[in-house]
Amino acid sequence: MDIENRYLANVFSKKPVVLTKGKGALVWDINGKEYVDCSTSYGVALLGHCHPKVVAAVQAQAEQLITCHSCYYNDRRAEFTQKLVKITPKGLDKAFLSNSGAESVECAIKLARKYKGKPEIIALMGAFHGKTMGALSATWDKKYREPFMPLVPDFKHVAPDNADKIREAITEKTAAVLMEPIRGEGGVRVPPDGYLQEVRQICDEKNVLLIFDEVQTSFGRTGKLFGCENWSVTPDVMCLAKPFAGGLPIGITVAKENIMASLKIGEHSTTFSGSPFVCAAGCAAIDALIEENLTEHAAEMGVYFKSRLEGLMSNHNIIKEVRGLGLMFGMELRFDVHNIILKSAEKGVLVLDAGRTVVRLLPPLVINKKQIDRAINVLDEVLGEEENERASAKVPD
Ligand SMILES: Cc1ncc(COP(=O)(O)O)c(C=O)c1O
Repeated sequence: MDIENRYLANVFSKKPVVLTKGKGALVWDINGKEYVDCSTSYGVALLGHCHPKVVAAVQAQAEQLITCHSCYYNDRRAEFTQKLVKITPKGLDKAFLSNSGAESVECAIKLARKYKGKPEIIALMGAFHGKTMGALSATWDKKYREPFMPLVPDFKHVAPDNADKIREAITEKTAAVLMEPIRGEGGVRVPPDGYLQEVRQICDEKNVLLIFDEVQTSFGRTGKLFGCENWSVTPDVMCLAKPFAGGLPIGITVAKENIMASLKIGEHSTTFSGSPFVCAAGCAAIDALIEENLTEHAAEMGVYFKSRLEGLMSNHNIIKEVRGLGLMFGMELRFDVHNIILKSAEKGVLVLDAGRTVVRLLPPLVINKKQIDRAINVLDEVLGEEENERASAKVPD
């Protein structure tokens, strides 16, 4: 901990835990203490940690070829993109490979501007799309944006969950509407039924692109392969990242063929795009997801987990609301959740926040009922302790 603190930029809100090992839904710290991981490294380890298929693929590829710039062809890259396009929503069959969620959004922004020949991007209040300058311009929270002004021009934010706001915001200059189907970092906000369908319709009527940022909502997370499939809406461009290479860094922008064709040679690229090492992991990750029916398992476990979280509401009136779909949950409390996250970790359960008052749970698709019960028991205990402490100390919310 001292060495990291000394030599790394101090930009992460560190928890006093040193993780050294993981298997499935469990991780262990340097002292051998076991945790149920409902954070999955911010939604990366959806297959669970060190999935055997991913481990084997990475080991084999490491001996074969690790790096290969995309100016040369490569067998693993070809295999990965073919597997990917087999599972993406119909029509989204051209991919650009990069290294992170923010990069997948950067590509989508450039693509929309190039294809439409217009600059304006409409995003939602409360949205999170990453922290590179383009993605940051679409991100809403001013604590991320303000220190870095001026950002990229021609980004507009409108109120979420109201399609009329999008209709009103679209102008002659608009290239695209960019949104997360479920806002993750913004508090795990599931949209009202009909909203995404209406946004799709508006984008078609007004002839602007619809970009879904599925960096957090894809790969089975919501009980469907892609979040948008819950509402049967297909975007023109989709941003993917976190879990698609079984834990290795990846970003993917998929688009309709005619849209992707607007980017010409040299107009967008990155050195590590589609490295064989990452693509081998990606092939194994997609195989595991499909062959082990993990999306269906996530849907089933999601119903159980949500019912248990809702059950906590009867014991703790400090819980304002439980939201979520599949295995993506937000438990909104009536006060700051910082202590809850630290205390849960102390008792062996890793959870995240999503804003000041929301505990976010992003467990792996492979979690089982026993592990869910363990997480619930810890949350029950921690919420009770916090309630008692606040009652006796009269801590303000
Ligand atoms: C919806 C969404 N978009 C983009 C990003 C940025 O991804 P990365 O941190 O890999 O750049 C995130 C990260 O949490 C995200 O949740």
